[in-house]
Amino acid sequence: MTYIEAAKNRAKEYLSGKNQIMLAIESSCDETAAAVLRGGREILSMSVHSQIGIHRKYGGVVPEIASRSHVERIGDVVNSALSEAGLTLGNVGAVAVTYGPGLAGALLVGISYAKGLCMAQRLPLVGVNHIAGHIAANYLTHPTLEPPFVCLVASGGHSDIVLVKRYNEFELIGKTRDDAAGEAFDKAARALGLPYPGGPELEVLAHLGNSRAYAFRSEFNARPTLEFSFSGIKTELINVMHIAKQRNEEVSRADVAASFQRAVVEILAEKAVLAAKLTGVSALALAGGVSANLSLRETMRSRAKQEDIAFFAPDTRLCTDNAAMIACAGHHALLTGRLDDLSLNVEPGLGL
Ligand code: KG4
Ligand code: ZN
Repeated sequence: MTYIEAAKNRAKEYLSGKNQIMLAIESSCDETAAAVLRGGREILSMSVHSQIGIHRKYGGVVPEIASRSHVERIGDVVNSALSEAGLTLGNVGAVAVTYGPGLAGALLVGISYAKGLCMAQRLPLVGVNHIAGHIAANYLTHPTLEPPFVCLVASGGHSDIVLVKRYNEFELIGKTRDDAAGEAFDKAARALGLPYPGGPELEVLAHLGNSRAYAFRSEFNARPTLEFSFSGIKTELINVMHIAKQRNEEVSRADVAASFQRAVVEILAEKAVLAAKLTGVSALALAGGVSANLSLRETMRSRAKQEDIAFFAPDTRLCTDNAAMIACAGHHALLTGRLDDLSLNVEPGLGL
């Protein structure tokens, strides 16, 4: 029997509910991650190796170094996900892997490893879109959530407003015209002298400041459309820091951080709620690394409530890159007929 015939048979077993153990691998950026899920929504284990410490001294992710670190870690990360779940490779029913969007070399490590496992064990292989993975993190936290809903995906590389029509059917209905939300947080944090990745550091500093100290505003975002922009407010923040330095004046970094965070959060919350209203859905979800931001979660929750829209966000541990969300998205992709062969390749610029 050829590999693909065997994989199709195993996929049928998975679909019949006989063995719904999904092993997933995620390596699109600076986290090497693996996870095991049962039945698409029950997390048996999660293993993540973060490269933050490695890239911090460069102020951002260095793609070559990321790929090398993935190669060094992936075997251990997959093995520890399996052993934490109390399973071996022989128990796995299918393998999901992120194939884009992300860094080409980094993605290639995960894909190659997944293909090796599938070939050796004759397992079905499912390629997963990283953004669909972030959205699926919500299903893991909220077992009753199902499409249709609107999801704001705010990560380091994306700020997308997505209409989730079905588990595997998406429509991009809004996006940033320049920086992604996480990118804006990271650049602002850098201007404030905070280490990479700046988002979480900026949030901590913002707690100590007055969010009304500066009015970071951009006319572009006042239009009632689903397109938004962060470059204006980011430039305003950089100017505040610059001018203070030139004049040798003291500036409260906490006030700047708090005001910047408020500006970004207001834009995101406003546009996401507007999207839910325009599409007429009754549920709004949040996803991506920036969804770990408490101010964003709380602001979206209260704005959604005012409009009678239900609000969902993933558990904090599922907000940033992980493989449980990839396993969940992979489960739904397999259920709706996706099955890849060993020619699956990376797609660094993959859209939804
Ligand atoms: O989704 P993610 O882990 O990786 C990508 O797919 O990009 O998102 C990482 C981004 C980084 O820009 C990071 O600064 C931001 O999410 N981030 C945050 C917070 N936690 C992570 N931004 C604001 N507040 C946070 N608490
Ligand atoms: Zn991500």
